[in-house]
Amino acid sequence: MGEGSDDEGTPRVGTHLASMMTMSEVGIDFERANAARIYDYFLGGAHNFASDRAQAATIVAANPDMPRVCRLNRDFLGRVVRWCLAAGVDQFLDLGSGVPTVGNVHEIALAARPDARVAYVDFEPVAVHHARDLTAGLDGVRVVQGDLRQPEAVLRDPGVAGLLDFDRPVAILAIAVLHFIDDDLPSIFGRYRAALAPGSVLALNHGSADQDDPVLAEAVRDIQRGYRGAATPVVLRDRAEIRELLDGFELVVPGLVDPVDWPVEQPGVEPIGAYAAVGRAPAAR
Ligand SMILES: C[S@@+](CC[C@H](N)C(=O)[O-])C[C@H]1O[C@@H](n2cnc3c(N)ncnc32)[C@H](O)[C@@H]1O
Repeated sequence: MGEGSDDEGTPRVGTHLASMMTMSEVGIDFERANAARIYDYFLGGAHNFASDRAQAATIVAANPDMPRVCRLNRDFLGRVVRWCLAAGVDQFLDLGSGVPTVGNVHEIALAARPDARVAYVDFEPVAVHHARDLTAGLDGVRVVQGDLRQPEAVLRDPGVAGLLDFDRPVAILAIAVLHFIDDDLPSIFGRYRAALAPGSVLALNHGSADQDDPVLAEAVRDIQRGYRGAATPVVLRDRAEIRELLDGFELVVPGLVDPVDWPVEQPGVEPIGAYAAVGRAPAAR
């Protein structure tokens, strides 16, 4: 499939990438599956390798609903970006932005506001390379290779600090990424929130087995088990831990809900087993 590997799983790199740099220079790990490329595979993309597809098979064996979960995560992202634009927020800092696919943040934002600005941040080289390739020449878009666990480094990176005006509202997006981070998220997100002007947005979602429905809780744990051995194992947090990441921000109605039910319930659409919310920085802090 695509640039990833031949049928035997021998790594090969897309011609454009290969022509620019060697595999070791870009730091691609072909042997170990990771979140960016597994997600790309589940969304029908071509930027994944044999190791990613093998891990995806393990995940699907554990929970056959996983491709739907990924699609609905992505749909949530699109709804959030549109909501921000409708609310007058046209600057985006997308943390853990992933391999570009359809409905990327800059495509939605620039279609509505040609002067919108989007800074993508991801630490995965394939995701960064393809995002740079796709957005080359777009004035309002930058792609930063960075680790969201280091807020100060992310915020002062020229691709972020030189593009986004933090004296005006900015929307920080952390979609389908936080459950890959085994670190002190409250401290990390406290530092991001502190950088935001009144009216700014912090939007996130996070897988959680803290569910009233035990079947759904077990389905989430099955996904977590499926990711074992990947470069990015899954860390589950409970509802209160996820809510804490928006501390001091005003939650937009309907609050902290399954992503399929934000901003309105979708009757007939089964929950995916995550919590999502959009918080807004209050006027006085
Ligand atoms: C499942 S994808 C989600 C992509 C996109 N946010 C979306 O919702 O479509 C998770 C992404 O987060 C990235 N990621 C994981 N940990 C990260 C970290 N510490 N810093 C930056 N990116 C990270 C992965 O490389 C991957 O591209």
